[in-house]
Amino acid sequence: MSTPETTIAAPRTGRIDPKYTRGESGKGNFEMLAWLFMRVSGVILVVLVFVHIFSNLMVGDGISGIDFGFVAGKWAHPLWLFWDLALLWLAMLHGANGVRTIINDYAERDGVRFWLSMILYVATAAIIVLGTLVIFTFEPCMVDATGALLENSPAICR
Ligand code: HEM
Repeated sequence: MSTPETTIAAPRTGRIDPKYTRGESGKGNFEMLAWLFMRVSGVILVVLVFVHIFSNLMVGDGISGIDFGFVAGKWAHPLWLFWDLALLWLAMLHGANGVRTIINDYAERDGVRFWLSMILYVATAAIIVLGTLVIFTFEPCMVDATGALLENSPAICR
């Protein structure tokens, strides 16, 4: 018994409905670089994410050991500062670039596509800036007006 044949048009045969085609001008090879970035950042994220999960949840006291003092202890070492910084930046840029692709694929009306993209870019920039500030301005050992260490400071401050 033979199966019916289905012919799928080869890519770029010009049979795309004109309403789905958009201007090609001025983009250079940005889309190719964005495609490559997704693959490269994906590979790096696997390492960053699994070491992050392993060191936070599987060594020491596991999830019950995670509190302010745990974060303070980790960020006392520059390795973890930069690890978490790389995780923040790559996850946000990778995630935002992925959502940018989805918006471009599915939002057909120019206005909707523009505003969804704007919301995405503003939210991404805000989270990256705020997260970076938190990582670099984090102060685990807080003092009162007289300069004395606050009672609930983590052990590494004493
Ligand atoms: C853990 C390691 C990760 C790997 C290996 C990975 C890999 C990838 C790859 C290769 C793509 C491109 C798929 C395509 O073009 O068809 C992709 C797309 C995407 N990724 Fe990731 N990713 C990872 C983590 C993340 C994280 C943490 C986020 C969110 C912050 C995220 C959000 C997205 C989104 C929204 C897309 C677009 C999906 C689409 O085009 O349909 N990914 N990922």
